Amino acid sequence: MNLLKMTGITKHYPGTVALDNVDFRLDEGEIVSLLGENGAGKTTLMKVLYGMTRPDAGVIEYKGEKKDIKKPSDAIEMGICMVHQHFMLVPAFTVTENIVVGSEPHNGVVFDKKKAREEVDDLIRKFHFNIDPDALVENLSVGEQQRVEILKALYRKADVIILDEPTAVLTPKEVEELFEILRQLNREKKSFIIITHKLKETMALASRVVVLRDGKITASDFNPAEVTVEILSEMMVGRKIDLGVRHAAKQIGGVSLEVSNLRLMVDGKKKLNNVSFKVHKGEILGIAGIEGNGQSELIKSLTGCIKPDSMELFLEGDSVSGSARTFLKKGIAHVPEDRLKQGLVGPMSIEKNLILGYHTEPDFNNKGFLKSSVIKNYGQQLKEKFLIKAPTTETEASTLSGGNQQKIVIARAFSRDPQALIIANPTRGVDIGAIEYIHQQMLMLRDTGKAILLISPDLDEVRTLSDRILVLYEGNIVSESLPGELSEIELGILMTGGKAQKGETA
Ligand SMILES: Nc1ncnc2c1ncn2[C@@H]1O[C@H](COP(=O)(O)OP(=O)(O)OP(=O)(O)O)[C@@H](O)[C@H]1O
Ligand SMILES: [Mg+2]
Repeated sequence: MNLLKMTGITKHYPGTVALDNVDFRLDEGEIVSLLGENGAGKTTLMKVLYGMTRPDAGVIEYKGEKKDIKKPSDAIEMGICMVHQHFMLVPAFTVTENIVVGSEPHNGVVFDKKKAREEVDDLIRKFHFNIDPDALVENLSVGEQQRVEILKALYRKADVIILDEPTAVLTPKEVEELFEILRQLNREKKSFIIITHKLKETMALASRVVVLRDGKITASDFNPAEVTVEILSEMMVGRKIDLGVRHAAKQIGGVSLEVSNLRLMVDGKKKLNNVSFKVHKGEILGIAGIEGNGQSELIKSLTGCIKPDSMELFLEGDSVSGSARTFLKKGIAHVPEDRLKQGLVGPMSIEKNLILGYHTEPDFNNKGFLKSSVIKNYGQQLKEKFLIKAPTTETEASTLSGGNQQKIVIARAFSRDPQALIIANPTRGVDIGAIEYIHQQMLMLRDTGKAILLISPDLDEVRTLSDRILVLYEGNIVSESLPGELSEIELGILMTGGKAQKGETA
């Protein structure tokens, strides 16, 4: 019997049909991977199920009964929980407090702290979660925070857990740990719906694949064991995708971007310890490393967003210092790590976001007045070129799907003819068609002689794109290698502070 059945779900937004008569089912013990391009409607479908969005039409049945899910607490009561991509934990609370909040055990009218602690402890032991119930959430790694979110769902006795892009922010090791947990819970009859853009993960975990395209289901009965990554990607985007193929640099020229003696202390801790490197014209220099090892500080220093304790920075032999706008003007473009916090102004239109930071330039500005028709034209061109899916260029950026927001940030940085590009997590959350496109654009920019610094926790990405790879660990550059010289495992060891010998096989 179907555990869950959604029939004829339709949802319109102004100018967009997000879901068009969608049927979706989930059986007990399944792990369904929900695939689809950016803007296909995946998050919307799950928000309908979780009571965060009301559909225009459609029926939801759970365990054979018709249900009206008006709000998340209705879904939770039925046994459905959702872990969002941006976690919703309270940093200053302990693990236990975060898990029980909203469903606290009571002794009479008072919160029974002891009981809560015991219940959480039982849960952690029962499912072999490696986590301290008394730790403060603000001191946990991202992977641990995600485990807290899953525990929260288990505490509410969820039978169905929805995970929206759960691995986008995890390191490869954390992904493995998460999958182990999910497999184990699955043996205990828990069912999962997982949204992901990473087909390798779908293949490793899912028992069935469902594909959404433009708000419609295009496939709902695939067993990933019986298809290849190529077939899956074709089902999603309707054409063949060429990913993971190395395209070596055509011609590496002289030094373009040179940074030396970059030092930064934060709260008495060394965040960057005398970092120095050069990026050449026509070269992609990749920085591999687990998040939190100084990447953020490095990116912000190199783009003028923070002023480090010491740094000498030269672009084409010219010293660069000053504000973020000066850095942009000199020709250092920037794709920030976190598009929501640093890359976009949500309530602003797509076209304005596309010139953000460049809006005082004569191309777009005449004596303090924005040239609106120029900006509109420019926006329309970039919207088409970068496949940004939205009704118009005046649409508010905040209403776009996650991957389409990322495309705005990428389009902006690539289109102002920068000399050097500092690009962080360029393909986080974007679909494979767009990954292919973004990678091609990076290679094209490189082959016109620009210098690119790529910072990404995605090792596959660093390894396919980079012409040289540095590893950043605890604020130090601990390794420099050519592509292919170190294996994925060797790089992984260096990223976690181990010592890998070149040529070592693990
Ligand atoms: N609150 C909203 N207002 C207007 N349009 C919206 C809103 N939420 C979603 N949409 C639109 O509905 C469509 C589906 O969005 P959804 O977020 O479900 O996509 P998705 O498949 O999750 O994409 P991604 O992989 O990029 O996260 C998109 O075109 C999006 O712009
Ligand atoms: Mg989404």
